[in-house]
Amino acid sequence: MIQMGNKLESVKSFFDQPRRYLSRSSCDVRVRTETVQKFVRWKQFDSVLDIGCGDGSVSRPLATTGTRITLVDISTAMLSLARSKYDEELEKNLELVNTDFMATQFTPASYDLIICLGVLAHVESPEETIAKMVTLLKPHGKIIIEFTDSRHFMKRISDKLRRIVRPSSSADYVLNPLSAPEVMTLVGKYKLKCESIYRYSWWAFPGTHRVIPQDLLYLMTRFMFGDVDQRRNSWLGNEYICLLSIR
Ligand SMILES: C[S@@+](CC[C@H](N)C(=O)[O-])C[C@H]1O[C@@H](n2cnc3c(N)ncnc32)[C@H](O)[C@@H]1O
Repeated sequence: MIQMGNKLESVKSFFDQPRRYLSRSSCDVRVRTETVQKFVRWKQFDSVLDIGCGDGSVSRPLATTGTRITLVDISTAMLSLARSKYDEELEKNLELVNTDFMATQFTPASYDLIICLGVLAHVESPEETIAKMVTLLKPHGKIIIEFTDSRHFMKRISDKLRRIVRPSSSADYVLNPLSAPEVMTLVGKYKLKCESIYRYSWWAFPGTHRVIPQDLLYLMTRFMFGDVDQRRNSWLGNEYICLLSIR
């Protein structure tokens, strides 16, 4: 039995009710999935590690019969949703790990591609998480991270509105506030370089998901920000998806 701290217990119990997250995030998950696919479209990977895989949507398109996929998630419910996306053939190369990423004991330098989207805000230490990712990466491998820039004015506006509309938060833990400069400093500290960044915002104002269907939010996001090939209005984007490699 793994002993977990209070924060990890709270994270697990929040995501063990996947609808709380997925019902208001399907637009965001779709943008993340498509961005990852575009970032790696010319590459083939033997081994992919998806940290905090959620319902598995982001890494599932990368699964082939020749790719070893490892999905890690602290939430049992999320991991079982992710597993349901794999058929018998692809399951042969699938490893599911239901624990805190920091408690995993993978072989160093064993992954070509490591994905960690929407997770750094929830972990106990974003720095230790990035440091551990680097140890697991093969020398010419790639890392893709996603985080919300907590200092961006779009994020500040949505936080202020949320505090007015809903003074008590639905999650019973505090998200790590990560600013873009702080994350870029960590990227440099661990000898990573940023090859590409896609920025967008997903209209996460309070109540938005109740009045605007996720498909429409998706169209609005694409209209405003384009995709990886177009990259419009990046300065308005508080969500960062970064493709990293070792310097
Ligand atoms: C915001 S969701 C993102 C899911 C997915 N990566 C995506 O982009 O759609 C965060 C996920 O990370 C998982 N998670 C959070 N902290 C974790 C940790 N320390 N170790 C493993 N998984 C974690 C949660 O259970 C949840 O499924």
